[in-house]
Amino acid sequence: MAKLRVCVIGTGTISDMHFQSYAKHPDVILYGVFDYVRERAEEKAQAYGIPHVYEELHEIFADPQVDAVSICTWNNSHAELAIAALEGGKHVLVEKPLSLNLEEAIEVQKAAQKNNRLLQVGFVRRFATNTKVLKSFIDDGKLGDIYYAKASCIRRIGNPGGWFADKERSGGGPLIDLGVHVIDICWYLMGRPKVKSISGHTYHQLGNRANVKNLKFYKAADYDKGKNTVEDLANALVTFENGASLFVDVSYTLHTKKDDIHVKLFGTKGGAELEPELVMISEENDTIINIHPQIDHLSFDFENAFQNEIDSFVQCCLTGAESIAPVEDGVEMMKILTGIYEAASKKCEVVFS
Ligand SMILES: NC(=O)c1ccc[n+]([C@@H]2O[C@H](COP(=O)([O-])OP(=O)(O)OC[C@H]3O[C@@H](n4cnc5c(N)ncnc54)[C@H](O)[C@@H]3O)[C@@H](O)[C@H]2O)c1
Repeated sequence: MAKLRVCVIGTGTISDMHFQSYAKHPDVILYGVFDYVRERAEEKAQAYGIPHVYEELHEIFADPQVDAVSICTWNNSHAELAIAALEGGKHVLVEKPLSLNLEEAIEVQKAAQKNNRLLQVGFVRRFATNTKVLKSFIDDGKLGDIYYAKASCIRRIGNPGGWFADKERSGGGPLIDLGVHVIDICWYLMGRPKVKSISGHTYHQLGNRANVKNLKFYKAADYDKGKNTVEDLANALVTFENGASLFVDVSYTLHTKKDDIHVKLFGTKGGAELEPELVMISEENDTIINIHPQIDHLSFDFENAFQNEIDSFVQCCLTGAESIAPVEDGVEMMKILTGIYEAASKKCEVVFS
């Protein structure tokens, strides 16, 4: 089989998951890298034995040797870079979120269709073992019709600052950064119903709490305690055309005892918790039963999920198979995220026709 020559654009924290997963794939040649900060790109090129460190971005898109790119840059460049890569005939794996807003997302979708190239969105939780196991039970009808889902990703203190805290570059705070993952995984497992209406709130009450002492949390390379323009809490109720609904809340900081993540789905025949640990709930012989699958990874298995995501992207590029995280799902997710921000700013429900 021909090998896939891949370039990685943006060589910060998450790029390592892309590099190491590509490096383990027998049908991939890690071909080139680019970052605004050249030293960062050179460091990765050396670490992973990558031959080309590009001077300019457009050289990647014009290079006929390059088959595909991973985009691991700040959110504000995702759409622009994805479109340029697609126009250059490259397949694209773009980190979440697909774009800053719905309009950009639609442009990316058009570019993918026009150039007949794959665009896979980095919805890495779709590729996790616990998700795959639960999806197989859902596809078998074990939960019946899923009519309610509840997702929460609460950080007690965890605004990473830097570009994450700069709305211009990130598009928003915990909603677009963390909410995208938990909303997407619920929506995907609910069978991707069409969104009908959205109510939501965002709060800027606590700031980034840079004053807090004696408690460590992840900080971006360009952390500046004086800069923060994103919300610290968001919640929303999303209603779908089939009558199902999803309630979500996410925070970068909140006066709460500890961090908390949960993803729960409720159906007519059974329920499930995907996070913090996969468990299914059912009823048999007039008795409620909890089903505990015996698998290696009951929670989100970060490295394994990334490897699965990259393996799947490579497979789709080389064979033309369809991705399980296609561009149209990225567009729908931007519709939901943009809708929540809109409902919050207008202080009223947003209804889609
Ligand atoms: N899938 C996940 O679980 C996951 C986890 C973390 C981050 N992410 C996503 O990955 C992306 C990067 O996040 P990160 O934590 O690695 O950030 P980071 O700040 O550590 O790295 C980003 C890198 O991109 C470079 N960059 C930014 N814009 C660029 C451009 N237009 N051209 C070239 N280089 C550019 C920066 O110089 C930096 O080196 C974000 O979109 C984020 O949402 C996804």
